Amino acid sequence: MYRFGTVALLWAISFMAYGQKPAPLLQNAYHRPSVSLNGQWHYIVDPYETGYRNHRRWEPFDEFVNTKASAAPYWANAKKTAPSQRIEYDFERSPTLEVPGDWNHQQDELLYYEGTLWYERDFSIELQPGQRYFLYFGAVNYRADVYLNGQKAGYHEGGYSPFNFEVTELLKSGLNEIVVRVDNRRSAGRVPGLTTDWWNYGGITREVKIIPVPDVFIQDYMLQLDPEQPAIARGYVQLNEAKPGQTVTISIPEAKLSRTFTTDTAGRAAIVLSAEGLKRWYPERPKRYEVVLQSGRDTLLDQIGFRTIQASGQDLLLNGQPIFLRGISLHEENPMRGGRAYSREDMALLFGWARELNCNMLRLAHYPHNEHAARLADELGLLLWEEVPVYWGINYTNPETYAQAEQQMQSLVQRDKNRASVIIWSVANETPREDPDRLSFLKSMAGAVRQLDTTRLVSAALDRTEDKQEKRVTVTDPFAAYSDMVSVNEYIGWYGSTPERIPQMRWDLSSHDKPFFISEFGAGALYNYRGAREEIWTEDYQAWMYEETLQMLDEIPSLRGMTPWILVDFRSPRRNLPNIQDGWNRKGLISEGGFKKEAFYILRDYYAKKAAQYRYDIKN
Ligand code: GCU
Repeated sequence: MYRFGTVALLWAISFMAYGQKPAPLLQNAYHRPSVSLNGQWHYIVDPYETGYRNHRRWEPFDEFVNTKASAAPYWANAKKTAPSQRIEYDFERSPTLEVPGDWNHQQDELLYYEGTLWYERDFSIELQPGQRYFLYFGAVNYRADVYLNGQKAGYHEGGYSPFNFEVTELLKSGLNEIVVRVDNRRSAGRVPGLTTDWWNYGGITREVKIIPVPDVFIQDYMLQLDPEQPAIARGYVQLNEAKPGQTVTISIPEAKLSRTFTTDTAGRAAIVLSAEGLKRWYPERPKRYEVVLQSGRDTLLDQIGFRTIQASGQDLLLNGQPIFLRGISLHEENPMRGGRAYSREDMALLFGWARELNCNMLRLAHYPHNEHAARLADELGLLLWEEVPVYWGINYTNPETYAQAEQQMQSLVQRDKNRASVIIWSVANETPREDPDRLSFLKSMAGAVRQLDTTRLVSAALDRTEDKQEKRVTVTDPFAAYSDMVSVNEYIGWYGSTPERIPQMRWDLSSHDKPFFISEFGAGALYNYRGAREEIWTEDYQAWMYEETLQMLDEIPSLRGMTPWILVDFRSPRRNLPNIQDGWNRKGLISEGGFKKEAFYILRDYYAKKAAQYRYDIKN
């Protein structure tokens, strides 16, 4: 039907119509000098995709012809130049949203909005010769199509991952304009899929900046202690140019360490440094060193803590010493201001509450949090479980879904692999253990993580198996065999039973010679609703649940930590009991107003005892 030439042309257009994917992620963009594009951006809500598709054929406007010729697509950002000209949008006269920030908490009419929305702003920049320029986004939920001066920079999918495009050829000195189309719709093929127990905050939810780098620059690097040989710090430096013989110098001035290495044909230099003289990073003494990386005209600074984490039999070893993870789960939400947390201040608020709870660990549920989280945890001495939203109903047989899940995992490891605080990469939460496609999906994910990083633990939040007759709890999930620790969510006393059942339950983990970890337990309570402990939604019921659960868990010999669900009440469209939930999941130990519930103090005191039980001396 089609002549070859037509097919090739259609292919080219369809390829171009989706634009190019992002450039390799800049390692440590955090510390590179940049031009911030944070601030007020104009926005247009576009539920019918009027600015993106031809309304009759429903096809995307061709994004690679001179868009000035056609005023229709919103990325053209057309301006009226004649009295009779008809343009049915105008960014300049449209309202604004704060970037970073989800749209849901900024405008009442956008609280539940799921669809496409356009952002636009102008900015000035003076380009320097010999520099290349990258446009960097901390995250956009879920898909972003990015246009610079009327030309497509590219697109990205994945709501919680950083990405960057090279825009050297699209920028101009002086005034520029950037347009971003954001689509936050849930869909069966995406990760997460159609259903989650959290709010689908849409928008440019993290910072945006333009990063200049020299022609030849440090693209990526990793430097961590070798868990098997902790006297050695190993890693690599990857330059953007695949050329041998380029020199790379790594220095740790405080330790009087400096060594120069040479790249191979791939532009990569393997790094080996003696770590004898380096003080270890501990939660109680979060020692970090300034690390200076230099190659050619590029110099990059980082702060890296050096520690090892291992699973050994039923123990978790931090720097070779047994540790108990006194954790708490949290969503990336600042309930006091509303919306997605995105700043250092937001994370400091949440982490401050966790430290009052005597925590030494956090589960950043259920998706990669913003980069401030791991960097602040490095500073404060909090250990982290980080994860991707392979959560509930995922399409395990769809190759694009797997590609998306793996890409989200890889970009999380890529961004946080030099953070001492991160000790666990989790590939899934509560996924159907009986589904064979799910097992191969998760095994591939675990393999992909271990390809990138062998210095940390790989896990997943599994489901327990409960024998109601025998009142016996086991873990029969086949993925446990591929995980470095056995982690399960359990809601005995909340879903399907009440707390008086808890003391009757016996856990049998004899088939797993691994550290055991409770990744969730909890109960809902409305702050200040008091009554008999048998009365559901009271603080008294939640406190009772915590007392019984902590006693039950303490009887499990291989228990090495927990992250109860959850630090703070959080928004969820699934929670609609009037005057109790009102769109909030109430399992928080703290209310959305910042008030502590009774169970907060029960867990805090339990952790104080645990800390005394698991003391270790900080040898070096
Ligand atoms: C699940 C799930 C959480 C959810 C929680 C709940 O375990 O992992 O995301 O919020 O249960 O039901 O509150």
